[in-house]
Amino acid sequence: MFNFDSSCLHDFITNDDIEKYQTKIDEIHEKLHSVSEKVNDFKGWVKWPINFKTSEIKRIKSAAEKIRKNSDVFLVIGIGGSYLGARAAIEFLNSENYNHLIKNSPKIFFIGNSISSQEVEDILKICDKKEVSINVISKSGTTTEPAIAFRIFRKFLEDKYGKEKAKSRIYCTTDSNQGLLLKVARKEGYECFDIPTNIGGRYSVLTSVGLLPLAVSGADIDKILKGAYDSYQENLSKSLKVNNCYRYAVLRNILYKKGKYIELITGYDSRLRYFFEWWKQLFGESEGKDGTGIFPASAIFTTDLHSLGQFIQEGNKILFETVLKAKNVDEGLTVPLYKDDIDGMNYLSDKKLNYINEKAFEATVLAHTRGGTPNIIMTIENYSEYYLGYIIYFFEKACAVSSYLMGVNPFNQPGVEKYKTNMFKFLGKPGY
Ligand code: PA5
Repeated sequence: MFNFDSSCLHDFITNDDIEKYQTKIDEIHEKLHSVSEKVNDFKGWVKWPINFKTSEIKRIKSAAEKIRKNSDVFLVIGIGGSYLGARAAIEFLNSENYNHLIKNSPKIFFIGNSISSQEVEDILKICDKKEVSINVISKSGTTTEPAIAFRIFRKFLEDKYGKEKAKSRIYCTTDSNQGLLLKVARKEGYECFDIPTNIGGRYSVLTSVGLLPLAVSGADIDKILKGAYDSYQENLSKSLKVNNCYRYAVLRNILYKKGKYIELITGYDSRLRYFFEWWKQLFGESEGKDGTGIFPASAIFTTDLHSLGQFIQEGNKILFETVLKAKNVDEGLTVPLYKDDIDGMNYLSDKKLNYINEKAFEATVLAHTRGGTPNIIMTIENYSEYYLGYIIYFFEKACAVSSYLMGVNPFNQPGVEKYKTNMFKFLGKPGY
């Protein structure tokens, strides 16, 4: 079960504050669920959990099986929405040490998400004498960072296997109707996976963008889609009394109006680090425009309580926290007993680390809330495929609703173009 708990906000927000938003929410719900067949309004993700094509899922599974059999290393080339979701999901389901721990599956590396020469050189070294396959992901097919990396690793594969054999190790995930990557893939005969035209990058993790890398990691992608489906169904009501997703969007907006300009998403397990990176991109690019938006930040506790904790407790009161956690207190390692107890730790002996972590969570919520930092708490049963799909869909929908409440278009990112235009000018790209 997914549990949404806003009871710690009682000192900050009243039920009346929330209910005032119902009419606006009714309008936004209609706007989000009315999909135009004629215009591309980037709302394809809204009904994706009921609309995805099973034939595409079958192709993803069979490509993943082949990659798992013939590859030691699987390179995922992409940036932004074509990168963060897959990495977030693999680490959420496994660990941030996935590549060190995995057996009988390819190691998965992400590249093309920067222009660092060092990073590319490192991956080239890792690929030396290994069997390698590539998945290049780009919706537009024109993004500079992945396009550079693709040239380098395509050449690497062609030098290693010859042009013909390299072809069977290159998989392209892109818009099936347009773009330069599609053009290259068609010319070379690479297998292609579809990013629907009406689904934008940061809302695309539940398409082949996330599902192919996830299937290569050994994840059960049917369970991810089932979680997303249940989340779709459970967050379908317009009523703020029952729809937690809409409630979350409203609470964020009320807190913002009360001067809480930063949302800090926190969790008690490092496997959430990249999930939070994905979340930051989702909310940052969707909401941060026209001079508005909540700045999305993240922290892993208790680690960052020893760096950011002081600021959260006693610094400028511009923050609210959203905690994402799993109910796993009875599992995992216990603290060993030492008879002499010189370090004074025997009071914890035989206690589960997860139990101690839970107490740290309870203590932190109490301290931060009393210190003037409101907390919203979301609890999932475990870090499984089902809950991954559930919360991905939950946050996508909450983000779109929250952005509409702020009066901005959740599906564009005009600000990202500014650095690109300058960079292209400086690099002498034709036409700039
Ligand atoms: O959310 C978005 O649309 C962006 O972050 C894109 O995903 C990112 O810029 C990469 O674009 P593309 O997939 O076209 O290479």
